[in-house]
Amino acid sequence: MLMAESYIQQLFAERIGGLQYGKSHAIYKFEKIKRAKRAAMAMQPGAEIIDLGVGEPDEMALPEVVEKLCAEARKPDNRGYADNGDGVLKQAGARYLERVCGVKGINPETEIIHSIGSKAALSILPSGLINPGDYVLMTIPGYPVFGIHAKYYGGQVHNLPLEEKNGFLPDLDSVPAEVLKKAKVLVLNYPNNPTGASATPDFFAKVVDFSKKNNLVVIHDAAYAALVFEGQPLSFLAAPGAKEVGIELHSASKSFNMTGWRCGFVAGNELLVKAYGDVKDNSDSGQFLAIQHAAAFALEHPEITEKIAAKYSRRMNALVEVLIKAGFKAKKPKGSFFLYVKAPRAVSGKDGARKEFRSAEDVSQWMITEKLISTVPWDDAGAYLRFSVTFVAKNLADESRILGEIEQRLGEVKFEF
Ligand SMILES: Cc1ncc(COP(=O)(O)O)c(C=O)c1O
Repeated sequence: MLMAESYIQQLFAERIGGLQYGKSHAIYKFEKIKRAKRAAMAMQPGAEIIDLGVGEPDEMALPEVVEKLCAEARKPDNRGYADNGDGVLKQAGARYLERVCGVKGINPETEIIHSIGSKAALSILPSGLINPGDYVLMTIPGYPVFGIHAKYYGGQVHNLPLEEKNGFLPDLDSVPAEVLKKAKVLVLNYPNNPTGASATPDFFAKVVDFSKKNNLVVIHDAAYAALVFEGQPLSFLAAPGAKEVGIELHSASKSFNMTGWRCGFVAGNELLVKAYGDVKDNSDSGQFLAIQHAAAFALEHPEITEKIAAKYSRRMNALVEVLIKAGFKAKKPKGSFFLYVKAPRAVSGKDGARKEFRSAEDVSQWMITEKLISTVPWDDAGAYLRFSVTFVAKNLADESRILGEIEQRLGEVKFEF
């Protein structure tokens, strides 16, 4: 007997599918990857899956940060609603921007508020900026959260493809005039997920110029900003005039191995920070002050990030070498933990059997099934695979063993590009 459909099905908002909510059979990318992994494990029980698809650090926060959290959690004064935060993280954030990124003059009172992670900030900000019909300029491939929420408010997204020939920087001059007229926000993210590309001071200067000329707000998602392999992290706020046009989102998630802690900060233009704070105040009651204070402690210890970045740099060197040996055109990025490489068009095995791929997704599925190596495919602007160096290894010897294993598995076949 068919069960009567609950009246609740009639009540969903159009923005999440309305009457059709939950009825789609489309399988999304990350679910496909999970399913392929499960199927591969079932086919070869006990075999080792090498997971290069992970988008978060493989290790926990450093012991001194955990100790700080414990000490702060014991303080009665930290127990209550944090609302938009006390001064501790604000001051640490301003000092961090100056010390680590060379950004002077951020007022901790008015130009910084904490976030419950950058994702939360990206989901809150559209409510303060987007009216129906407004356009957001978003890079593709990219982290979609701001655009998804902008659409919830009736906004539209104009995609700016990130292409290798442009160093994976968007071509701002490509935006059609009629889109520019309705555009309010430009969302950027460097070092970039998934391309691993870094911005340059010239590019950020151009962004400031372009935004002033076209009355745009810039939201720079700097989730990977401090994870650089050489030189100083590049903040958008270091560009002259940046504070007049935008804000930057920093996060403890990747820089300090604190993904689950949910803490970061939004800094820059005072009016935008205020609007973010006003909407945030009606969305959440702030991150636990003990977590904020531990994050502030981490921000005062940028050597933690340097240590983490050195590990990724070491792994990146080795992975680039392994992939080049397998025929990929891999090039070490300047930061992040992502290595983004052009996907092969076909592969042949030792037995001569040849398989053509239609997309990066095809390659990724093949690589999980046949080689038990998990990656994340991107087909938004060319077919690319994203390898992350955040794979889990017990120690240095295990790290080398895993890299050797990748080399051996990929060496068994011949890729065509
Ligand atoms: C580009 C980008 N922005 C934001 C986030 C989320 O960061 P947070 O943990 O601070 O919410 C991620 C996480 O994967 C990301 O890749």
